[in-house]
Amino acid sequence: MPELTIAVGKGRMQDETLELLARSGVSVSRSALKSRRLAIEDESGAYRFVFVKPSDVPVYVEHGIADCGVVGRDVLLESAADLLQPLDLRIGFCRIAVATHAGQSRPVTGALRVATKYPQITAAHFGARGVPVEIIELSGSVELAPVLGLADCIVDLVETGRTLSENGLEVVEVIAESSARLVVNRASYQLKATAVSRLLEALSRGLGKGVAG
Ligand code: PRP
Repeated sequence: MPELTIAVGKGRMQDETLELLARSGVSVSRSALKSRRLAIEDESGAYRFVFVKPSDVPVYVEHGIADCGVVGRDVLLESAADLLQPLDLRIGFCRIAVATHAGQSRPVTGALRVATKYPQITAAHFGARGVPVEIIELSGSVELAPVLGLADCIVDLVETGRTLSENGLEVVEVIAESSARLVVNRASYQLKATAVSRLLEALSRGLGKGVAG
C-alpha cells in the first residue's frame, strides 16, 4: 500500500520531474512509464503517481486525493487552492509575460484586449496598474490571437521564447518567474508527517542540498 499519492503535471515538466525523482532515489519502471496508465507506483511501492493536467494538480492536492503534487508556480498563481509549498524543485523554469507584435506600437482604443490561459494573473496584473482590459480566455496556442487580430496582446508562459519569435511577437513585460514547486495537502502534512518528511529529504538530496527551512 503506497504511503503517499503524488500528482504530477503531464506535459512540459513531466520528464524533468521523473529525472529529479530518479536522482532522489524514487524510480518508476520503464514499462510502467511506457504504458498509458495514469496511476502508477514507484519500484519501492512507497509512492503512487497520478498524471493529470497541470492545472488540475492543485485540485487533486487541495481535495486530498493526492497528498503531494509537482506543479509550476504559474499554475499556483492562477489557482486559489490552499496548499503548502515547502520546496522549489528548480526545474521547469519559465516566465509569465505580456507579449505583443514585435517592433510595432499599435494604437489601442478602449479596453486592451488580452488573450490568455491565465485570466486571474492577467486581471491582477492589469488591475494593479489601473489598465482596463477585456480578457479573452483561450486554452492553447494563445500566440495566434494577436496575429489573427483576436487580441492586442497576450499573457502567456515563455520558456525559450521560440513560439513568440516564430510568430512575430516579443515580450513587453515579465509578470513573474516560475519553476516547479512541491505542494502538499495541509492534512497530509500533519497526518502523514513521517512520509512527507522522507519525500522532502529525498527530493532535497536530489536537488543537492539540505531540506529547505
Ligand atoms: C506553452 C506556452 C507557449 C509555449 C512557450 O504552450 O503557452 O505557447 O509553451 O514555449 P517557448 O517559449 O519555449 O516557445 P504549451 O506548449 O504548454 O502548449 P499550449 O499552447 O497548448 O498551451
